Amino acid sequence: MKVTISLIKADVGSLAGHHIVIPKQIEVAKQSLEEAEKNGLIIDHYVFNCGDDLELLMVHTKGENNPEIHKLAWDTFKEVTEKVSKPLKLYAAGQDLLKEAFAGTVKGMGPGVAEMEIEERISEPFIVVAADKTSTGGFNLPLFRIFGDPSNTAGLIIDPKMHGGFIFRVLDVKEGKHVDLACPAEMYDLITLIGTTERYVIERVYRADDKLLAAVSSTTRLSLIAGKYVGKDDPCMIIRMQHGLPAVGEVLVAFSEPWLVPGFMRGSHYGPIMPVSLKNAVCTVFDGPPRVVALGFNLSNGQLVGLRGEEPADLFDDPAFDRARAIANDITAFMRRMGEFMPARLGPEEMEYTTLPKVLEKLKDRKQLV
Ligand code: F6R
Ligand code: MG
Ligand code: MG
Repeated sequence: MKVTISLIKADVGSLAGHHIVIPKQIEVAKQSLEEAEKNGLIIDHYVFNCGDDLELLMVHTKGENNPEIHKLAWDTFKEVTEKVSKPLKLYAAGQDLLKEAFAGTVKGMGPGVAEMEIEERISEPFIVVAADKTSTGGFNLPLFRIFGDPSNTAGLIIDPKMHGGFIFRVLDVKEGKHVDLACPAEMYDLITLIGTTERYVIERVYRADDKLLAAVSSTTRLSLIAGKYVGKDDPCMIIRMQHGLPAVGEVLVAFSEPWLVPGFMRGSHYGPIMPVSLKNAVCTVFDGPPRVVALGFNLSNGQLVGLRGEEPADLFDDPAFDRARAIANDITAFMRRMGEFMPARLGPEEMEYTTLPKVLEKLKDRKQLV
């Protein structure tokens, strides 16, 4: 059976600053998707939040980039904004809805999208990953580790089905062009691009031998849509697992050593990404540290199978990630000791707020030739 998994997310306002989606917002989003399920537009859905981002997971048979599905997501975000965020004066109500009217796709309108059309396998385990207070490109490192690095993923060496490697589709977010690179054959070219995280973003990963789609990641750059900084593009992704793909543990281990991502306070600092349970997906210290959640599901004829009813396996809700969290806290303390000095603070072109032009303007007549 061919099904499409669509994960569409937006920040449409939150409680106590850019902090947390409230249950009432989740409720309204759920009602909207339940209605769509009754009408037969989608087969199943799950609504959750990662910090201030509202995440809509939908399964349907309409394919990727389908206008009806995107309109459903857009209308749901609008409804949550109008019915909850605005009346309750939640903070930054409707923040990521950058356009007035829906025009066929949510791409380029603010929300982040990760979608994959797949042939459902005999068993179809997959993970949904979502992050807050970071940006697209923040997932390049774990995706490379999972699908390209044999010291992370033993299966690249010892599972014959994976031994042919994976193809990474890399998007140049500035030029709007993508290129497919085969790993391991073109690994050095691949790292040259995806190490430049603010410009080159892994969009999709295929298994090289049979082009099986293994992972998709959201690639929105809100600043490139709006022409100015309008909030971070907190990314999300979908990763299929097992039976000739990385095992669940090979996916999760990639999150056990925190790495630095841009985002954090005012979208203008580097901070370590901290793997957390859904309940701890709230940014606090210095509006951070950036958080990431991982939710495990199976598909059964397009139905989402969870742990308890619809609730998925909350994969970072595990003492095995305490060490990663402790490291992330240590790195946070270390980075914060540097205050507003680069590289703790981002370079001027990547910053959300900058007073630099104003300061330079003010000082221009006082500058003297040396
Ligand atoms: C970063 C983020 C927050 C805000 C900060 C200031 O992505 O969302 O760190 O930048 O809380 O927010 P404003 O300018 O809305 O007061
Ligand atoms: Mg926000
Ligand atoms: Mg956010």
